[in-house]
Amino acid sequence: MPALNQIDACVFDAYGTLFDVVAAAKHCQDDLGDQWAPLAQIWREKQLQYTWLRSLMGEYTSFWQVTQDGLDYALETLKIENPQLRARLLNIYLELDAYPEVAEMLQKLKGAGLKTAILSNGAPEMLSSAVSNAGLNNLLDGVLSVEKLAVFKPDSRVYQMAVDDMGVSKERICFMSSNAWDACAAANFGFRVVWVNRFGQAEERIPGHHEFEIKTLAELPPLFAL
Ligand code: LAC
Repeated sequence: MPALNQIDACVFDAYGTLFDVVAAAKHCQDDLGDQWAPLAQIWREKQLQYTWLRSLMGEYTSFWQVTQDGLDYALETLKIENPQLRARLLNIYLELDAYPEVAEMLQKLKGAGLKTAILSNGAPEMLSSAVSNAGLNNLLDGVLSVEKLAVFKPDSRVYQMAVDDMGVSKERICFMSSNAWDACAAANFGFRVVWVNRFGQAEERIPGHHEFEIKTLAELPPLFAL
C-alpha cells in the first residue's frame, strides 16, 4: 500500500515550490554582487507580507503589482537605485526557472492517472509565462490563479477553488507547498498535505498539520509508490 493513497489530484503551490523564487536575483549577480541574496530574501518576504496585509485590508491588487511593490521596498532598503536592473529583475521573474526535478515528477504523477494543477497567488499572465518557459504546459491539467477571487492565500476560498475547479473532493486532493504557512492552511482546510521543506525551515505555529515532509519534489512520486 502506498504511503499516499485515495488521492485523485495533486495540486501545487507555484512560487518556491515549482519555481525558484530566488532565481531572478541570482541571475543578476553580475549587477548585484553580494547583495543578490539579501535582495531575494527581502523581496520575497515583502511580497508575501503585502498579500496578507492587502487581504486583511480588503485591498486586493494583482500579484504582479505586489511583486513590484516588494521589489521596490527591497531595492530601497538596500539603497539600490537602478531602473534598468529593476526592469531586468522583473523580466526574469516572469520566466523563473522550475526546480530541476519538477518535469519528471509531474510526468510520473500524470502517468499514474493523477490530475495535476497549480493553485497560486500568481496573476494568470505570470503563471502562464512561467509554465510555458519551464515547458510544463502538457504536464498540468489546470493553472488556477487567485485573481478571479480577488483575495490571496491563506483565505479558505482559495483552496476551495481547487475543489470546485477540478471536481475532486478535498479529502482526495494532495497539496504540495514549500511555504510552511501555505501547507498549514491547506491542511487546516482539509487537503492531504505534503510540506516540501526545501529551505530546512522550522514548523509554523499556526493551525493545520502536514501529513508528510519532504526536501524536494523528487521525493513525492515514491509516496505514491511510483
Ligand atoms: C504562490 C505563492 C504563495 O504561488 O508562493 O501562491
